[in-house]
Amino acid sequence: MSNQTDLVVLGGGSGGYATALRARQLGMSVTLVERDRLGGTCLHRGCVPTKALLHAAELADAARAAPAHGIRTSFDGVDMTGVHAFKDRVVDRLHAGLRGLVGSSGVTYVEGEGRMVGPTSVEVDGQVHAGAHLVLATGSSPRSIPGVTLGPRVMTSDQALRLDEVPGRVVVIGGSVIGVEFASVWRSFGSEVTIVEGLSGLVPLEDPAIGTQLERAFRRRGISFRTGATVRGVTSSEAGAAVTLEGGDVLTADLVLVAVGRGPVSAGLGYEDHGVALDRGWVVVDERLRTSAPHVYAVGDLVPGLQLAHRGFAHGIFVAEEVAGLSPDPVEDVTIPRVTYCEPEIASVGLTEPQAREAHGEVETYAYDLAGNGKSQILGTAGFVKVVRQADGPIVGVHLIGTRMGEQVGEATLMVGWEAFPEDVARFVHAHPTQNEALGEAALALAGKPLHAHG
Ligand code: NAI
Repeated sequence: MSNQTDLVVLGGGSGGYATALRARQLGMSVTLVERDRLGGTCLHRGCVPTKALLHAAELADAARAAPAHGIRTSFDGVDMTGVHAFKDRVVDRLHAGLRGLVGSSGVTYVEGEGRMVGPTSVEVDGQVHAGAHLVLATGSSPRSIPGVTLGPRVMTSDQALRLDEVPGRVVVIGGSVIGVEFASVWRSFGSEVTIVEGLSGLVPLEDPAIGTQLERAFRRRGISFRTGATVRGVTSSEAGAAVTLEGGDVLTADLVLVAVGRGPVSAGLGYEDHGVALDRGWVVVDERLRTSAPHVYAVGDLVPGLQLAHRGFAHGIFVAEEVAGLSPDPVEDVTIPRVTYCEPEIASVGLTEPQAREAHGEVETYAYDLAGNGKSQILGTAGFVKVVRQADGPIVGVHLIGTRMGEQVGEATLMVGWEAFPEDVARFVHAHPTQNEALGEAALALAGKPLHAHG
């Protein structure tokens, strides 16, 4: 038996369900196949549950800090059952909302393990779903280190999200986004944390100034880190775990988190058998997200580049519109905002200073120190807003660090996306006292008329 629709989407995460919803809006018939839960990594194992943990961590920090603000509180510890109940309530509410949205959209939702069995068709439990077009959206999963066995004391973020106790001592392998977010949560919950990062600094994909500031902030928070340190091996027993570094140092811990990146989910799904070219498991696409097989597209984490839910949404909308013949503008990674929700938060969009120098030659930068920002001082945070412009040209990168600064990334995205000049931004009044004002101050300074800044 075969079911025919305009579009078959394999994978119901951010990229897949966005494709399905936009395609329905455009009048297409759509089959969406998901083997686990609608919402994928972002909703169930990524963005949403980790941000719930980070919010609980912020409350723990606030409880400790409150007496210094004249508020009588004491921090009595962490009840992980309660933390998980809070996190799961948030996830469950969003999951119910998403199921309702997809259900009422008219998408045919098929639960089960799908596999590509023809040029544009997918089989689920013996039933073939054929589309005029097929969209691959099977996402990514945590990678481990070759030779490292995962278990109760050595785990990836998938298991770490469900820990029922606060570990006493943790070693986090990988000092990029996942590593620093979990390190931040555990430190706030009271753990002793050491991060091991192979490259020369934390968050190595960010502007170098951001990495330096984060390291300063983490040091103040009592988070240890070893940078330029490669892991040679990890052993574990019932009693604990040990991480051996190149050079011979051994770090012992109750728990080891392996946060060394996420790889594509494409093995055994029949992609290559039907002409979809892969590169180390990633699906190769052109700028219009077409794979090497006719009428087959790929979206989200399966496509090499930034692994972010909102990139998946943008890919999905793009592909639905492309199939509908609307000729949308391609989605470019460079204008996609990136937020890391550790404390202090990091947000960025566009090029780092070294990337801008490489792309544009001469650049000008200004870093506005949050010491001069009233709201940031009330929050007790250190950090900055760094704006990078082409010499006498538009803003090509914005880099933010400080408590709650992730919320400021929207305006930064418009600056870079609209290729604004600092002089354009400086014309607009930024509200006082907000943290957003720091972006306005940086633009004023780059436009040659600093206010609360040293020229
Ligand atoms: P990543 O690829 O960003 O970083 C992995 C880090 O591990 C690198 O810095 C690498 O140098 C280091 N590393 C690799 N092998 C190592 C070894 N043997 N010893 C020491 N260090 C080693 O991967 P990550 O942090 O696991 O995140 C995966 C993806 O998930 C990223 O693309 C990230 O953007 C996304 N994500 C996004 C979030 C957000 O937007 N807030 C939150 C969490 C993840």
